[in-house]
Amino acid sequence: MNFDLKKLDLEAAAAEKCDLLAVLVTESAKPGKDSVSQLIAQATKQGDFSAKVGKLLQSYGSAAVSARRLVLLGAGDGSARAVRQAALSLSALLKGPQVKRMVVTSVSALEGAAVSALVQAVAEASYVYTTTKSKAEPRALSRCVVGVPDVAKVRSEFDTGVALVAGVEFAREWGNRPANHATPSMLADAAKSLAKQPRIQCKIHGPAEVAKLGMGAFMAVAQGTEQPLRFIELHYRGGAKDQPAIALVGKGITFDTGGISIKPAGEMDEMKFDMCGAASVLGVFKALGELQPAINVVGLIPACENMPDGRAVKPGDVVTSMSGQTIEILNTDAEGRLVLCDALTYAARFKPAAVIDIATLTGACVIALGGVRSGLYANRDDLATALEKAGEVSLDPCWRMPLDDEYAEGLKSNFADMGNVAGRAGGSITAAKFLQKFVADMPWAHLDIAGTAWKGGAAKGSTGRPVGLLMRYLLTQASLSAVAKRAAATRATPARGKTPKPTKAGAAAKQA
Ligand code: BES
Ligand code: MN
Ligand code: ZN
Repeated sequence: MNFDLKKLDLEAAAAEKCDLLAVLVTESAKPGKDSVSQLIAQATKQGDFSAKVGKLLQSYGSAAVSARRLVLLGAGDGSARAVRQAALSLSALLKGPQVKRMVVTSVSALEGAAVSALVQAVAEASYVYTTTKSKAEPRALSRCVVGVPDVAKVRSEFDTGVALVAGVEFAREWGNRPANHATPSMLADAAKSLAKQPRIQCKIHGPAEVAKLGMGAFMAVAQGTEQPLRFIELHYRGGAKDQPAIALVGKGITFDTGGISIKPAGEMDEMKFDMCGAASVLGVFKALGELQPAINVVGLIPACENMPDGRAVKPGDVVTSMSGQTIEILNTDAEGRLVLCDALTYAARFKPAAVIDIATLTGACVIALGGVRSGLYANRDDLATALEKAGEVSLDPCWRMPLDDEYAEGLKSNFADMGNVAGRAGGSITAAKFLQKFVADMPWAHLDIAGTAWKGGAAKGSTGRPVGLLMRYLLTQASLSAVAKRAAATRATPARGKTPKPTKAGAAAKQA
């Protein structure tokens, strides 16, 4: 699907020939003299429409506009959140075959963040999964024009929104594919395809290389299946050579049966989504490739199935992780932390500025936070704050959880350095405490996305979260380091006879 940004006022938007003209009406909007404004005023006066979020008024073949359909959308206060909600209410219309070309605009000018949210919501509302359907009806919407009064003002946020759509849809596609259409080798091929974009490189490690690295915990999970494991290593190099990278580690269990500690049959199909952490890393690289920001990012994905065959790891088995620490595998269903711990150890070789792992790690996190916020853990307050902020701004929110050492008590083992599970209580936290044993002194954050990466029930499917959160975090880091670099350059070459003053932007960056 193509998005275009175009200078349009309401009168010009009304003259656009298309299948649908959607007009966002905020509560503060002052209708003008054009025909659409008059219609809004009339409908509001008659009580048929209001600017409250979620209100919608459809008309067909209206004389006021050239479009076949006109939809007025209540957009509340015009915030990114309200605009997103308004655009999502078009979902039923946009998922159908009728609307191929649409124009969307707002009565009052939208802020950049709202424009980005609008683009993403239109994509979300029109998304359809087709890959494994024989008579799939693909997305009908092929072009969406976003009409704004001042193109230059919102251009960068618009571009970010479009790149995010590409990233989120890449993540959704791989999340939604059934496990037999998304094996570890297929995920590796998807990663390789991303390396066609400039500044992205990809290296795939197979079973022999992983054995040589000593990733005993990862290998233990993968030993019960016919599908060979893959360890995917991606690099995006947009920053200076000496600028430390941010490392993203995504859990890539392409199917989680639980292994010998097998899961019950009900809803086990949903465990194809157990690679959504990996998918989010791939989605981030897709978006990075599109946007080309000045930052360095490493992506690591341990990918394998968790299956129960004759060679499968057994409860009580002790394995040696890449870090040298031994682990008693008391429950083979706690496999995510086993593949992640070795990837975290591997990440240390890049001396990253921060390492963030993303994982559908625990059912306990679903119980704690539901599907609204991802669980956030971090061993540094500034990193936690930055991620929390990124989550709010991108409407992909998370909630910080505790890491008190007392939570690690239950991980003690009589036969190894640690067990891989503690009791049922605080299950998301004890999983995080397990991972923390492998991050040494790296600034580290862990996102438990078990509740947010996919939806169950009738709307079953992957959400593409937390690509939005992660990209917003990375873009903020990129602009902060650019500001810091400029400030350093000013200090290095002061104007003669003047003492260099820190720039306004530099000071602001420091504060943030
Ligand atoms: N992939 C699951 C976590 C999960 C469960 C995500 C349900 C979403 C919905 C993970 O590998 C797992 O099985 N975790 C266990 C850990 C337990 C054995 C300590 C869990 O949460 O039950
Ligand atoms: Mn499991
Ligand atoms: Zn799992």
